[in-house]
Amino acid sequence: MPKQPEDLLAIGEVSRRTGVAPSALHYYEGLGLITSTRTGGNQRRYERHMLRRISLILVAKRLGIPLADVQEVFATLPPDTRPRAHDWRRVSRHWEAQLARKKEEIEQLQRELTGCIGCGCLSLNRCRLLNPEDELGEQGPGPRRLDANPG
Ligand code: FES
Repeated sequence: MPKQPEDLLAIGEVSRRTGVAPSALHYYEGLGLITSTRTGGNQRRYERHMLRRISLILVAKRLGIPLADVQEVFATLPPDTRPRAHDWRRVSRHWEAQLARKKEEIEQLQRELTGCIGCGCLSLNRCRLLNPEDELGEQGPGPRRLDANPG
């Protein structure tokens, strides 16, 4: 069905409804997160379903999900219609798993930091915060960095 003029929103209207500044809408458009068409007078018009996409961007921002990840997820959404409830369920499950991984990483960092409290050595070899994979430790005991460039 062809789009009716009432299905298309001016940037000011989109900004007013979402609370997102026009400059941010331009930015999201530049990233391909939202799209617009142009009027004969070269003004942007957004299809109404872009409001739903912008809502998802705002949720992602609140959750600390990087825009690069939002781009990945949006690439799986239908481009010409508003995301449906099942799309949102899929996206939210994906982001939930992402947040769970982030939470595990933070808890691991917290455990490593707890091991450092009261230590203060900041040893490049021993401190897990500075040498998380213990890369130097895998090369055997003793100093390694000094051996790296024997001059
Ligand atoms: S500061 Fe000593 S182990 Fe991290």
